[in-house]
Amino acid sequence: MSKPRILVTRHIFPEITDYLAQHFALESNPEDVLWSQAELAQRLADKDGVFITGSHRIDTALLAACPRLKIAANMAVGYNNFDVDAMTAAGVQGTNTPDVLTETTADFGFALLMATARRMTESEHYLRAGLWNSWRYDMFAGAEVHGSTLGILGMGRIGQGIARRGAHGFGMQVIYHNRSRLAPELEAECKARYVSKDELLAQADHLVLVLPYSAESHHAIGAAELARMKPTATLVNIARGGIVDDAALAQALKEGRIAAAGLDVFEGEPAVHPGLLERSNVVLTPHIASATVPTRLAMARLAADNLVAFFDGRGALTPVNT
Ligand code: DGY
Repeated sequence: MSKPRILVTRHIFPEITDYLAQHFALESNPEDVLWSQAELAQRLADKDGVFITGSHRIDTALLAACPRLKIAANMAVGYNNFDVDAMTAAGVQGTNTPDVLTETTADFGFALLMATARRMTESEHYLRAGLWNSWRYDMFAGAEVHGSTLGILGMGRIGQGIARRGAHGFGMQVIYHNRSRLAPELEAECKARYVSKDELLAQADHLVLVLPYSAESHHAIGAAELARMKPTATLVNIARGGIVDDAALAQALKEGRIAAAGLDVFEGEPAVHPGLLERSNVVLTPHIASATVPTRLAMARLAADNLVAFFDGRGALTPVNT
């Protein structure tokens, strides 16, 4: 029997490409060309499955052009690049990479919170520019982290990881808001208190966004929400661009309505709103929260294993639709 045909959309770890090549007839992308959606559709037209990243979408137009496609394995836990309903209607299995990146992403969320509150990149730029000529009492004085109030919007696995770091490592009072409340034992483990979204906005010294992107969470933080936050607060987004209205955020930062922001994700990334680029009180990183070598390898391995298990007839390991 001929091997299933698989497309790998971006350059990935050579050991994962080798592993896939043992099981499948593979077309890969060693030069890491960023194909357009139209080119992706052309390349996928004769494929049975795809190893995909957030750089590309599986939507109605693509599905119509790829009648053989049976599975799309996303190398990411977030799968807002999938039109899940359209995939389900077309009989296409979607998979993601939960769990393997939880702690690494929580580490990064905390690092971004620290860098933002303690003005690390702003002060480094100052030093590198040769502007440091003496000690000053208020030089880059930032916000306190230990003992402050940590707000978390979205309390899934990564949110809980951030809560544990804040409560146990930094003695922070942790409050959270989520679609559903955690079980009492999980709340106790995270030392986290459930509050309304309004209370979360009003009380957090540092607000970390960790919720999935959906039509419902689009612009969950806009001008009205930013107006409810403390003028001394920091906002950290490691979830998805589009959860924050970046134009409203740039304006709020300009007017000093909140103190600072740490952003790993952006609306329309890799483009970044110019109003954010021009502000010194924003720490900007290029969507790297899960980017450690072991974690990215584990994500790639899980995406590949989803393809192998699916075509072996064992069923996808981490399906996002059934
Ligand atoms: C994820 O896993 O959803 C990350 O954002 C992708 O790097």
